[in-house]
Amino acid sequence: MCKLVSVSDILDGKLTEKEVEIKGWLVTKRSSGGVQFLIIRDGTGFIQATVHKNEVSEATFKAADELTQESSLIIRGVVKEDKRAPGGYEIRVKDLQIIHLAEQDYPLAKKEHGIDFLMKHRQLWIRSPRQTAILRIRAEVIKACRDFLDSRGFVLTDAPIFTPAAVEGTTTLFEVPYFGEKAYLTQSGQLYVEATIAAFGKVYCFGPTFRAEKSKTPRHLTEFWMVEPEMAFCDFEENLKVQEEMVTYIVKTVLERRRRELETLKRDVKPLQKVEPPFERISYTEAIDMLQKAGFPIQWGEDLGAPHERYISLQFEKPVFVHRYPAKAKAFYMQPDPENPEVVLCADLMAPEGYGEIIGGSQRIHDLKLLEKRIEEFGLPRQAYEWYLDLRRYGSVPHSGFGLGIERTVMWICKLKHIREAIPFPRTITRIYP
Ligand code: 4AD
Ligand code: MG
Repeated sequence: MCKLVSVSDILDGKLTEKEVEIKGWLVTKRSSGGVQFLIIRDGTGFIQATVHKNEVSEATFKAADELTQESSLIIRGVVKEDKRAPGGYEIRVKDLQIIHLAEQDYPLAKKEHGIDFLMKHRQLWIRSPRQTAILRIRAEVIKACRDFLDSRGFVLTDAPIFTPAAVEGTTTLFEVPYFGEKAYLTQSGQLYVEATIAAFGKVYCFGPTFRAEKSKTPRHLTEFWMVEPEMAFCDFEENLKVQEEMVTYIVKTVLERRRRELETLKRDVKPLQKVEPPFERISYTEAIDMLQKAGFPIQWGEDLGAPHERYISLQFEKPVFVHRYPAKAKAFYMQPDPENPEVVLCADLMAPEGYGEIIGGSQRIHDLKLLEKRIEEFGLPRQAYEWYLDLRRYGSVPHSGFGLGIERTVMWICKLKHIREAIPFPRTITRIYP
């Protein structure tokens, strides 16, 4: 009996000269002089398998000859080191069994396709080497976030998806009918983790969040995933420290564990190797100054847009915090700076290489009266926030937290041009299929 193995173990050099079994799919095939060269994918990697006419039964050679692209199969054979093979190893096939002979005319058989065609066939496109590399890195990023937080005593407390109120402004709410009432898909779990800190101290939620973003840009999804830590007795500065350490941990983990995937993407890892605390810091006011000097027609008080963030992020080698934005440009719950109440104790973390914001965070208002005033000033319906005001009535503490966008982070680490590749099935303003 030969052993079922994974392609990644073969590529790691652990199985050379061993007889193995692989279960997977045919990616491409060519033949030359009585040899069939198969490229096979098993979900852990891609490997070449060769079927030599004079080494296998007639039935096995015929099966190899019949194989169509994306057919599922089981092969048995011996692992050989071979410099000419992609990845440096190949399997000399002894036996091959077709599980499903795929239909002819695989839609993505051609090398080049337009993006629209690829997006319509996302269910097939995710099988390609580039897409699998990105999605594996995505999984690693999520695991790194969770490992980091779990190992530091944060408790996962999930937030609801159906919610009665806005977190991040009323213009990007998705409204859904809810048994005769109105509900909204959550924009952020933040308000709920602000509640669970009083039960656990340090918490986080991780889940999908929704924004009816009118913006059709390369970095906006209508459905994206966010990890949102929240900490009791934590001020603005301490919050930034956690962010620095978490982002550094994510990048280091991907560099360590996903080197092969980064190579598949031809990602230059040098800029990633520079990521370590402390990150750069500039105030919003300094950022405006910098932008005006560079010729951007932006005024103090306006929020930063993608081109502004891009410019700022390109001025630094490491991620940079832009802190203390004008209160009016940000959300209702942010704590004013005691030294200048025009600005709030918030910071957005800009990823380098032009990527811009990957984290939004702040210290939260803990005073009941001030929070009531803000809810009114922002024109929010008071009764939907009564439960949230309770948190300032019973054991209120200074507290802070942040939200890290998974797809924005993956986009930067993989150096993608568009966020749609950073999630298995992207949802954008113009796309909800497949
Ligand atoms: O800056 P945002 O809006 O912050 C919040 O939602 C806070 N309530 C989080 C918190 O403090 N708990 O969003 C946080 C992050 C952004 O930095 C970005 O990475 C991502 O979420 N994000 C998006 N990603 C993809 N598409 C969109 N439309 C996004 N909007 C925000
Ligand atoms: Mg933000």
